Amino acid sequence: MRDLATAWTRLEAVAQAARERRIDGLFDIEPDRLARLSLEAPELFLDLSKQPWSLADLDVALDLARAGGIEAAREALFAGAVVNPSEDRAAQHTALRGAKGADFKAKGEPVSAEIDATRAAIAALAGAVRSGAKRGATGKPFRAIVHIGIGGSDFGPRLVWEALRPLSPQIELRFAANVDPADMALALDGLDPAQTLVVVVSKTFTTLETITNAQVARDWLRAALGTAGDAHLLAVSAAPAVAQAFGVPADQVFGFRDWVGGRYSVWSAVGLSCAIALGAEAFEEFLAGGLAMDDHFRSAPLDQNAPVLLALAHIYNRNGLSRPIRAVVPYAQRLRLLPNFLQQLEMESNGKQTTAHGAPVARATAAAVFGDAGTNVQHAFFQLMHQGTDIIPVDILAVAKASEGESANQPKLTANAIAQAEALMVGKTEAAVRAELAGEPQALIDELAPQKTFHGNRPSSFILLDRLTPRALGALIALYEHKTFVEGVLWEINSFDQWGVELGKTLAVRILGELEGGAPGVHDPSTTSLVTRLKV
Ligand code: F6P
Repeated sequence: MRDLATAWTRLEAVAQAARERRIDGLFDIEPDRLARLSLEAPELFLDLSKQPWSLADLDVALDLARAGGIEAAREALFAGAVVNPSEDRAAQHTALRGAKGADFKAKGEPVSAEIDATRAAIAALAGAVRSGAKRGATGKPFRAIVHIGIGGSDFGPRLVWEALRPLSPQIELRFAANVDPADMALALDGLDPAQTLVVVVSKTFTTLETITNAQVARDWLRAALGTAGDAHLLAVSAAPAVAQAFGVPADQVFGFRDWVGGRYSVWSAVGLSCAIALGAEAFEEFLAGGLAMDDHFRSAPLDQNAPVLLALAHIYNRNGLSRPIRAVVPYAQRLRLLPNFLQQLEMESNGKQTTAHGAPVARATAAAVFGDAGTNVQHAFFQLMHQGTDIIPVDILAVAKASEGESANQPKLTANAIAQAEALMVGKTEAAVRAELAGEPQALIDELAPQKTFHGNRPSSFILLDRLTPRALGALIALYEHKTFVEGVLWEINSFDQWGVELGKTLAVRILGELEGGAPGVHDPSTTSLVTRLKV
């Protein structure tokens, strides 16, 4: 079956027909369910058997993937074809983590040699800073980096650092993203300018928040070190001339190209701060993990392909069962920022109402994503996950072995991850609750039993890493990148543009002018009243 519209209708029909079906009941009638719905992918194990689809539904979902041209789209992505038509760009983030000497192209232009050269320059700088060969203006070694950037120039590096940072880092890495001065104040607090590098990361080098914070950091360096402080400034940008015009010395500007989307850019020089703070070897391992997942995504058959199956499970919930929200809960404190990262990756990529050809989309696109670290969230939103009126599918992540050496606490963490997935699916029947309450007055049992009942049947995907290594983190992020891509292809949208963020930016600049004494603009009454109240 090759017709996409028919494939969608079939998927929606089988999902709707099975709306009340028990997920746990499927294990009884599908002896090979676990085998077909779980797989080993590079650096991780994926279990999708607690999702609501039957194996017959899985086949329908795989037909949808084929009808949607996933295989051809995947080849176009890796070939550097224009997969971002509204900006006439390729999306070549996979080239950034390619094997050395690879032969990637973007719109026909060879890019791998330039990527290899940038990787070598990153490694050289990281080595020089870490060894003390490169020192600050007063001759002292660098002890801290302040990474300034926002959105795709922030979430990825922040996640990588939080996930992989050693307990006693040789070089401390801090981040500032928000234009709220409190963010920069915290980032700079207690640091010695003479021993601090400032890395300003912005694809465009025009982003209001980043340029504002970069000016604060430049002034902070110059106040302590004079213009020699500029030697502590580094920039990463796809607009290197703008970075130089800002005052960053030309040999301290690292480039990347416009065919790297912001939210896909952690693999580029955007990861420079992490490469310095973690070491170039760790950064290269991170890239290797991404490459391993790329190879899997490119070569595994669709029914054993982790990103494809993860995407189809989400689509079954999102489109088949009209579920507009998904939770992501890593049972790993070091992966606490994964949900934030995925919010931009998935919602900025696929939060679209128009196809790549300008027509209204035929069905719902990206779900809202939220989450935080387990077990903390069990004491926050899990009440709703278990007994709320909406069913919220959840990605549960766990790490088999502790990153802090051999910790006796680790089984407590993984036990909770497994238990929550089981509880969400299996629930607890009213009969079981009544049996537990036996002996209490009947009126009390009648009142309490429904409140203590868990209907269950709430889906989850389970992702298990062996250890949270740089390689595993790279594979995990690439898994979600490709999942997002597959969804975008099936929804027929452009996952690589973000026009929806522009209007608010433009209005903010206009309103800033009004707040700072400019002529009042034409607004709705509510907006005018807020502008009047906040005028400086
Ligand atoms: O949030 C909107 C956005 O355009 C993102 O796509 C991007 O990652 C972020 O702003 C930062 O942009 P830049 O790297 O150009 O400063």
